[in-house]
Amino acid sequence: MFSSMLEAAEMFVLLFLALMAHSASGDVSYSFPEEMKRGSVIGNIAKDLGIDVNRLSPRKARIDIEGNRKRYCDINLNTGELTVAERIDREGLCGKKASCAIKQELVLENPLESHRVTISVLDINDNSPQFKKDIIKFEIRESAAKGARFVLEEAHDADIGANSVQTYNLMENEYFDLSVSSKASGKFYAELVLRNQLDREQQKEVSLILTAVDGGTPPRSGSVAIHVTVLDANDNAPVFSQSVYKVSLPENSPLDTVVLTVSATDADEGQNGEVTYEFGHISEIDATIFTLNPKTGQICLTGTLDYEEENLFELPIQATDRLGLVSYSTVVVEVSDVNDNAPIIIVKSLNIPIPENAAPGTEVGIINVQDRDSESNGQVRCSIQQNVPFKLVPSIKNYYSLVSTGELDRELLSEYNLSITATDEGSPPLSSTKSIHLTVADVNDNPPVFEQHSYRAHVQENNKPGSSVCSVSATDPDWRQNGTVVYSLFSSEVNGAPVSSLLSINGDTGVIHAVRSFDYEQLKSFTVLVLARDNGSPPLSGNVTVSVFISDENDNRPQILYPSPEGNSFMTELVPKGAQARSLVSKVIAVDADSGQNAWLSYQIVKATDPGLFSIGVHSGEIRTQRDISESDSMKQNLIVSVRDNGQPSLSATCALSLLISDNLAEVPELKDMAHDESGSKLTFYLIIALVSVSTFFLTFLIIILAVRFCRRRKPRLLFDGAVAIPSAYLPPNYAEVDGAGTLRSAYNYDAYLTTGSRTSDFKFIRSYNEGTPTSDLTLRKTQSAVDDLEGLEPVISGVFQVGYV
Ligand SMILES: *[C@@H]1O[C@H](CO)[C@@H](O)[C@H](O)[C@H]1NC(C)=O
Ligand SMILES: *[C@@H]1O[C@H](CO)[C@@H](O)[C@H](O)[C@H]1NC(C)=O
Ligand SMILES: *[C@@H]1O[C@H](CO)[C@@H](O)[C@H](O)[C@H]1NC(C)=O
Repeated sequence: MFSSMLEAAEMFVLLFLALMAHSASGDVSYSFPEEMKRGSVIGNIAKDLGIDVNRLSPRKARIDIEGNRKRYCDINLNTGELTVAERIDREGLCGKKASCAIKQELVLENPLESHRVTISVLDINDNSPQFKKDIIKFEIRESAAKGARFVLEEAHDADIGANSVQTYNLMENEYFDLSVSSKASGKFYAELVLRNQLDREQQKEVSLILTAVDGGTPPRSGSVAIHVTVLDANDNAPVFSQSVYKVSLPENSPLDTVVLTVSATDADEGQNGEVTYEFGHISEIDATIFTLNPKTGQICLTGTLDYEEENLFELPIQATDRLGLVSYSTVVVEVSDVNDNAPIIIVKSLNIPIPENAAPGTEVGIINVQDRDSESNGQVRCSIQQNVPFKLVPSIKNYYSLVSTGELDRELLSEYNLSITATDEGSPPLSSTKSIHLTVADVNDNPPVFEQHSYRAHVQENNKPGSSVCSVSATDPDWRQNGTVVYSLFSSEVNGAPVSSLLSINGDTGVIHAVRSFDYEQLKSFTVLVLARDNGSPPLSGNVTVSVFISDENDNRPQILYPSPEGNSFMTELVPKGAQARSLVSKVIAVDADSGQNAWLSYQIVKATDPGLFSIGVHSGEIRTQRDISESDSMKQNLIVSVRDNGQPSLSATCALSLLISDNLAEVPELKDMAHDESGSKLTFYLIIALVSVSTFFLTFLIIILAVRFCRRRKPRLLFDGAVAIPSAYLPPNYAEVDGAGTLRSAYNYDAYLTTGSRTSDFKFIRSYNEGTPTSDLTLRKTQSAVDDLEGLEPVISGVFQVGYV
């Protein structure tokens, strides 16, 4: 029996699957019997909708349900099959309604799609007909005429259609036949029809069994016992004022509202006319919502009505008189919708944080609104507040896409509080609001920017290595590592040295340190490029130039070029005996490697053999006679000259100068001594003559060569009288590096003069300072080139004399 029922159920499945039909595109309908096992396959929804099974999972296919309703089916993401997820009891879902459909929603994302899945639940014959009471009691007068009819209580079968009660059978008996007819509603009811006259004296009671049979395959049945008590008298049954009572109630009606009062009248008088009312077969739930006053027939509301749950009640009622005569009627209660449900806003998905470079139009989330009310009470409009770069774009029914409408900038606004309002169209309308917190994620879109356009730093020379020079600072408004600034020096060269040998920078703080002590005389200023890079990937960077100016300190003593500052020099100047007052005798030449005030030199005679005889130009260093030389003046005059710069504190150097008042070298006592020291003075004299001749010859040769050279250079500068040749070995070796600093300049014709004692025999030596490299034989060469301007023999002797004694 059971197995044959299962077989029958399977047959139904096949039959109904074949009946499955598609509705409008996007929606799909299935018919499926109730009470199937969980996991039973309803249909392949992916195939039916033409969706690729492999795309179900990535698109987050799911069955969505509205509100707190149950989810009756599931989708198998691997096969695309729609399966039973929850027991489907048609009777529990739809009661007596002829059609019973479950509405579920298949939602797919990316792009968002929703498909309505309607499952028409098919009835199976799982309920037997039932009678409300175990025993139906009748009291029938014996006088009842043959053919009298007695309406029997209907059997109730929760199934519908053919599975509901189709026929009634009555046990074989002597007195009654059964007459089965159908009502306008299609229900079958039965009446007892008296076939043979009752005889109370013969039989006081008649017991019968009534069986109700439904039309299922196999059929189910239910039975009730009928007790007929045979009475002596006759009577009238009550009559309802209406065969159907209809009433409409708003769903929010309060408790104890009087729904309606039914009334039945009985023609009899007295006790026979007393009518009591009761409900026929109603569900337990309906029995808690409505109560019927048995005496007055007033139906009251004792539970809450909810249009969204149940919008129509059919309540069978019966009126019975004292003698048990019954008549039936129905009360139909229609529930009308009231706008009692505010829309519900559901955030179905939210893609946060949103990267700040998201293009306008990026979908940020999906919003679903639901309103359980119907018609205009359930029509919902959804809006978002103004002044935010987001909007709601209506998508498929009741779904909205939240999309961005403008550029986002985390550095300006890193979060948004969106408030979404949904309002229905009921009157008064109901609305609800939902806040959505959106965060914006950082993208490395800002390079570090320095606070200044360029930086200038001033450093005193002779600074300590490691001392801080200046500090740069750059800011980057991005988040975390995208805004973390790291400083570095752009590797380049300053005067051929790598920047890193001059400066270093603290990568975190931007403080720039000197790597070594600077020397103004070597480097007056330089420029470096500082980079600021953030830690994003890829990183962004900015740069700035830092100009470092080194300021001078008075760290160089004046350096005396002429006469040689070493005390052991025997350089001697000849002063002609006839020299008059104010004639130039010699010149002290000094330089200072510093600059400005630090290199401004002043000359002073600090000690003299005859203090009144010579004076020195404070700034020129020129030594002149103050008066005419007289015979009484000592032949040998010594001067000590101090050269002082103007720095704070000032530095000075001194030199000694010895002057010889004489017209003739032979008178020079030292030379005389030297001559006497030699074994033969005559020999010495010839030697000198020979040497001079050779030198003259050699120098003439050199003159020709040099003349060619000077002509080419077009620098035939001949200077004033009293000129002296200064051996350039006296010049500091590295002055050429100093660009415009100090007393000396490169590319500067350095003119030095040596007074030989005779104005007519002055010669001059010109040399571009940066010409040639000083070498050990320079002294000789210089002396030789001095012949350039040679006018007499004496200077040559003087030159030779220097060769011998320097
Ligand atoms: C958003 O709301 C949160 C908490 O409600 C608050 O802390 C935050 O400041 C708000 N942000 C904006 C941009 O209004
Ligand atoms: C930095 O920016 C990159 C994109 O440029 C982003 O992927 C990363 O998440 C950002 N880092 C932080 C900490 O926000
Ligand atoms: C320095 O910045 C300028 C402009 O921002 C850029 O053109 C240049 O390439 C940068 N230099 C370096 C070395 O990064």
